Amino acid sequence: MNPPFLWGAATSAHQVEGDNRWNDWWAWEEAGKVSERSGKACDHYRLFREDFHLARSLGHTAHRFSLEWSRLEPAEGEWSEEAFLHYQNVFDALEAEGLEPVVTLHHFTNPLWFSKQGGWMQRDASGKFAAYVERIAKRFGKRVRFWVTINEPLIYIYQGLILGRWPPGKKLMWEAAKVLKELLRAHILAHDILHDHCKDPQCWVSIAHHTMSFAPCRPSLLDRLSIFLRDWFVNRLVYRSLLSGFLFYPGVFCERLPAARTLDYLGVNYYSRDFVRFAGLAGINQLGGTCPKEHHSNKIEAVNDLGWEIYPRGIYEVVLGLRSLKLPILITENGVCTQDDSLRQRFIREHLLQVERARKEKIPIFGYFYWSLVDNFEWAEGFEPRFGIVGVDYTDGSRKVRPSAQTLRESCERVFVNPKS
Ligand code: FCB
Repeated sequence: MNPPFLWGAATSAHQVEGDNRWNDWWAWEEAGKVSERSGKACDHYRLFREDFHLARSLGHTAHRFSLEWSRLEPAEGEWSEEAFLHYQNVFDALEAEGLEPVVTLHHFTNPLWFSKQGGWMQRDASGKFAAYVERIAKRFGKRVRFWVTINEPLIYIYQGLILGRWPPGKKLMWEAAKVLKELLRAHILAHDILHDHCKDPQCWVSIAHHTMSFAPCRPSLLDRLSIFLRDWFVNRLVYRSLLSGFLFYPGVFCERLPAARTLDYLGVNYYSRDFVRFAGLAGINQLGGTCPKEHHSNKIEAVNDLGWEIYPRGIYEVVLGLRSLKLPILITENGVCTQDDSLRQRFIREHLLQVERARKEKIPIFGYFYWSLVDNFEWAEGFEPRFGIVGVDYTDGSRKVRPSAQTLRESCERVFVNPKS
């Protein structure tokens, strides 16, 4: 059965809700590890009805958001009925607006109790996650067709366990490999649980995977070799492991996972491109070094406010590379942070032209979520980056629709609702 077309915008709980006091990010902020605290964020916990109403008025047909595990299970094995009722209201509000929910179960934050026990490094972390998923599935399983179990496992690991910029703030390369395996196990358990409680007959479970486009620094064979390996590692390893049931990368992983074929679609997050140069063949150097953008200023047309290159063709390249996996594709995130909304308009138009091109070449992309519905708390970067098609004035919480919201509507309606063959 083919999935329906979906388009809209995405958010995540900690970035928009406000007052998420029981998770490891809040503790990280309180410990002064980042320059800004999330605080009330966009006050979306209170204003979700208004925000969904806005999304609907902008033509969206679906909405991607995350449930905050730490609200639902503030202490191990203790479930907050208040939080369950809150999300029940969220589902009711989405339904009233006719917005299809696409629900993320883990978007970077962990309950504090879980992280104090060792987070994803502890034994049976995936079992603890599965207990949460079981509760969610029992309560909301009949209301949801599209699930994202884990958002960007490799980014979570890279930022939190290799660079140490995010909680748990470690630099433990070897632990990182074990955590990846644990996150994949968690996905597999969640996949089975969700299928057991699904809204019949359709249930689509995936991860939202961070993908990138790569270009060689020099036209050399060695740079191309680094790209081949990096592309394999960054863009394919996670999907392939979940499909084959083996986590395999020569010299790093070779592990059997508990099951194969636990992806019903491919959730793709795409933002940018990196230029890569050969850096040797030992260990992580195999994946090449990332060139400073200045090396390639003649090839880079524009960057966002965080310095990421804006490269629309990359979304086409990424989905083309995933064609061989033969699964429907959902763009779970794509967006730009900028103070200049005309740049956002161009970004949206050009990326959706590439999505359209891929669809014309029969790549089965069934939907697109712009990141983000509203400006929000961008993790270690704080509130400065403005990603929203709706601006937020943080002094009073008021929302202002940007012209790019209309561009999103026109582009998505052209690509998904009234496509020209
Ligand atoms: C993605 C994250 C999302 C947001 C965007 C800009 O990697 O999933 O939470 O921060 O980047």
